[in-house]
Amino acid sequence: MNQLISSDGDGGALEEACPTTGWKARIARQFGKPEGRMGRLVGHAMSVKNKARSEWVLSLLEIEAVDRVLEIGFGSGRDLRRVASIATEGLTAGVDHSAEMVKMARGTCIGATLAGRADIRLGSADSIPFPDACFTKAFSINAVQFWRDRRAAMLEIRRVLRPGGLVGVALEPRGASNPELALANGHVLAADLEAAGFDDVRLESSDLGRVPTVCVIGLKGDPE
Ligand SMILES: C[S@@+](CC[C@H](N)C(=O)[O-])C[C@H]1O[C@@H](n2cnc3c(N)ncnc32)[C@H](O)[C@@H]1O
Repeated sequence: MNQLISSDGDGGALEEACPTTGWKARIARQFGKPEGRMGRLVGHAMSVKNKARSEWVLSLLEIEAVDRVLEIGFGSGRDLRRVASIATEGLTAGVDHSAEMVKMARGTCIGATLAGRADIRLGSADSIPFPDACFTKAFSINAVQFWRDRRAAMLEIRRVLRPGGLVGVALEPRGASNPELALANGHVLAADLEAAGFDDVRLESSDLGRVPTVCVIGLKGDPE
């Protein structure tokens, strides 16, 4: 499995996201797994940024009212709420390994949860706490750079999708990145999806910022 490429050179985005020392390291760790009071602040910061990016990713998945949609790494839960406002006859579900974000997202999605249309759980991308084949769409935005085993996570996403289901994995470049690095990471993620057995894998890039956000889309084909 190829490493994601960081803007610092040959490090991997994981290394970039989690420098090992100093205040930068502490903040980066919070974005990877928000905890405690600082985690709540980071969660609020996540919730105010980048509506256009989220809407672009969701538009690529063509979510419909009857869809059953899973988000992996939902942070504050803003995008879960966006999905719940579209998938009004289906289900909006989420998994995040931060107990703090689970609490925050349940609050963000209180309406859909009370209506029985949202199911927000604590868990990890590489061990998704949902049964096989229960979703029609799955997506993740700016969380893949923290996954310790991307291949295992993508196999898990494929497991919980129904045949004909779609996945979208998006990565928004950090400040110091550039278009070439962003696209190179898109190709790494596309190769991961193909290796996990997804079909019709394609790489999309947005023109929303100076550096494009990339999103790889894959299809879980029908069994032969
Ligand atoms: C940078 S935040 C992004 C949140 C949101 N998707 C957004 O775009 O604002 C990354 C989120 O992914 C979660 N996360 C990171 N690694 C994870 C893993 N292996 N399994 C589940 N959640 C994970 C973190 O807890 C955090 O809530």
